[in-house]
Amino acid sequence: MTQPLDSVTSAAPAEGGDLEGKHIVLGLSGGIACYKAAELARALVKAGATVQIVMTEAAEQFITSVTMQALSGRPVFTSAWDTRDVDGKANSMAHINLTRQADAVLVAPASADFMAKLLHGRADDLLSLLCLARPIETCPLLLAPAMNREMWAHPATQRNVSLLRADGTHFLGPDSGEQACGEVGDGRMLEPDQLLEELIGFFRPKPLAGKRVLITAGPTFEPIDPVRGITNLSSGKMGFAIARAAAEAGAEVTLVAGPVHLVTPRGVRRVDVRTALQMAEAVIPLAPTQDVFVATAAVADWRPTSLAEQKIKKNGSKVAPIFELTENPDILAAVAKMALVEGRPFCVGFAAESHDLLKHSREKRERKQIPLIVGNLGPATFGRDDNALMLVDAQGHRELPPANKLTLARWLIADIAQRLTSMEIPA
Ligand code: C5P
Repeated sequence: MTQPLDSVTSAAPAEGGDLEGKHIVLGLSGGIACYKAAELARALVKAGATVQIVMTEAAEQFITSVTMQALSGRPVFTSAWDTRDVDGKANSMAHINLTRQADAVLVAPASADFMAKLLHGRADDLLSLLCLARPIETCPLLLAPAMNREMWAHPATQRNVSLLRADGTHFLGPDSGEQACGEVGDGRMLEPDQLLEELIGFFRPKPLAGKRVLITAGPTFEPIDPVRGITNLSSGKMGFAIARAAAEAGAEVTLVAGPVHLVTPRGVRRVDVRTALQMAEAVIPLAPTQDVFVATAAVADWRPTSLAEQKIKKNGSKVAPIFELTENPDILAAVAKMALVEGRPFCVGFAAESHDLLKHSREKRERKQIPLIVGNLGPATFGRDDNALMLVDAQGHRELPPANKLTLARWLIADIAQRLTSMEIPA
């Protein structure tokens, strides 16, 4: 294989500690979404981050610094005139010291007024002061806007957003939906788990920036009649983890998902399908525009030849119905054939086996004419959060040890990115 396992595994963080070693300044400006900041602080700490809370006077109207201190485990700063030590420094310059160890400043919620202030470089409270005084090259600024939909849509706010973006500020959200004021529209702050996912993704390396990745995931459902069908035990978790890992790596990701109830990873375009034919219809036209195709879906090999319009009933004759089956198209094989001519996408297949993993994976890779196949033991992993993978290519095979599916997905994506790089012709 192209590189030792160590070079791939070292790219992934320890399980459960995606923000281990990161120092985040979590700023709160005034808004009802401050209640979500409490949960966010807790989630950041749980992910391994050191969280330093800074609140504006307006934020203190919505949530107390006592709550935020309890959740972050560190004293909260609210005033530019605070003379307490920061990281052992007693020069009474909290607005400087607070960002010197920080990997990022995240303001959540970021109010319309606070963003307007940042845009003009104003610095009349501790939070805006430290945003201005932060080392711009090493300490990025991320804003999670939270405001009424009219305030968000106002030309003044939109102007501020685009100018802040031009200044290098990153925006997380806002989301759309029901607002605290009862109105419905854009301007809701992202939920804490969404902000956490965004922040984790923000820090990940971007080896797939500018690349397009297409992924299939989950089972398919082949209807027999209006209430029954043929399906399988695939949960879709591995494919969804790969979609998240690819998006974190900077790719533009399309996820074609069979019937599963999983949350779409942030930044991923999802196309829901039910049958193998629908999956093929979604994948085939898109495939030539993609750099990578990862087929994780457990596509049903056969579908009932005809669909009964009404529920098939027992008729008392004790004779069980017999169903005629028709073979489904092999989506991966079709894309692989295309790739042989077009030179892309780079095709990765999955082999869910119950035994003889290496032998079956090798055979399947050759049969499908794909450069890489990922073997896993189906019965041992269906529905679970962890897995173990075996990567098989023309040169040999390599085992990725048992880990959670997101960790494995990150290793796999790092491996695929290295393969793409080594295939590129040097300029
Ligand atoms: O042929 P088999 O189902 O064993 O191969 C598994 C691989 O082929 C998986 O990557 C799966 O997503 C893909 N596949 C497909 N279309 C099918 C059957 C399998 O894309 N009809």
